[in-house]
Amino acid sequence: MAFNIGLLGLGTVGTGTAEILLNPEGRHPLIQDIKIAQVGVKSLEKKRTIDLPTDIITTDLEAIVTNPDIDIIVELIGGLEPARSLILKAIANGKHIVTANKAVMARFGPEIYAAANQAKVYVLLEAAVGGGIPIVEPLKQSLGANRFTNIIGIVNGTTNYILTQMTNHGADFAQVLKEAQTLGYAEADPTADVGGLDAADKISILASLAFGGKINREDVYCEGITKITSSDISYAEKLGFVIKLLAIAHKVEKTEPEKLELRVHPTFVPKSHPLASINGVNNAILVEGQPLGQVMFYGPGAGSGPTASAVVADIMNIVGVLHSNKKAEILDPLLSCSPQNYCQISPIEDVYTRFYARFLCADVPGVIGHLGMAFGQYDVSLESVVQIGFQGEFAEIVVVTHQVREGNFREAIAEILSLNAIKEIPSIIRVL
Ligand code: HSE
Repeated sequence: MAFNIGLLGLGTVGTGTAEILLNPEGRHPLIQDIKIAQVGVKSLEKKRTIDLPTDIITTDLEAIVTNPDIDIIVELIGGLEPARSLILKAIANGKHIVTANKAVMARFGPEIYAAANQAKVYVLLEAAVGGGIPIVEPLKQSLGANRFTNIIGIVNGTTNYILTQMTNHGADFAQVLKEAQTLGYAEADPTADVGGLDAADKISILASLAFGGKINREDVYCEGITKITSSDISYAEKLGFVIKLLAIAHKVEKTEPEKLELRVHPTFVPKSHPLASINGVNNAILVEGQPLGQVMFYGPGAGSGPTASAVVADIMNIVGVLHSNKKAEILDPLLSCSPQNYCQISPIEDVYTRFYARFLCADVPGVIGHLGMAFGQYDVSLESVVQIGFQGEFAEIVVVTHQVREGNFREAIAEILSLNAIKEIPSIIRVL
């Protein structure tokens, strides 16, 4: 029995998906049951690297999501609209959904899942996080017996590539970004990647799965990598760290009601940490739970083939279920079980973390003493203080704190900024 796919989007991932479906040999036998019935594109004129019958390609995407012959809509157009409306319309027409769209699912997941539950259809999104790395399915199924405590991920390949190049070649952010754009690793408009927004979408999705609550995307604290300088990279190296853009979901212990920390920011990662050695465009996600302990998922987080591999796996999962004539039920492990309540997210001021801070100051007696006093006043304990270099006439002092409440650290920093001897605080970066 064949099942009909409506493929929305024939870009990088859409083309990769079609390539797999058109070449089932040597792959799982279920792939032979999947037929591309229609493909929706923006322009019929665009040159394609794949041969598809012209009569199945259309610019009328609405006609695809309402086509009664189609069983599964594979949404690979990205962006918020019209993707969200097309997904909702497809669900209203009884179609199952496979999507790689993290932006839509992070913001409108609750609305989409509610509609899908009512229509008893599946919405699967393995490709939305970590490209080819299986992480959504493990959180829903293979690791389902655990109580999760931490998800820490490098979930954006563009920024990991940039930081790796900066680390290996001592280059500045702007220069590496330009190179990454030339090589096709970074988008022409890199804002979502370098600003941390893409990673924030992804950690929202993972946190919702792991911690069983809806996530308000606006609650994710988000800081990108645009302010990281070669000086910080070099201090990180000297102090035994590498800088990575981490997406962190952490269950805070013993809070009533239960709270999560949810944040994306550049982080000093100790060189001995498993995430420190994840380089280039690769992604990795470290999952911690009880009784599991730690597992790390590692691999290509983007790209045509890897992402299409995740898309087709989702299609196969649905086709497997359709073969047994089953409807999507709420306790079906394939579903992301649509939670009723929102997770409570701790404000960033209440997060406990270590900090690295770099100060430019006048090289006069008592500066380090004043810094220490100000930190001490707000209960910020220092792990190390070093003064190695100068920037022009100003001495550069670098401080690493012990674990501290972020709100206290910020108050201390505000006070330090008012000290006469302090010229500037060019960098503040959290430490894992
Ligand atoms: N732009 C993303 C990244 C890939 O650089 O990782 C798609 O999620």
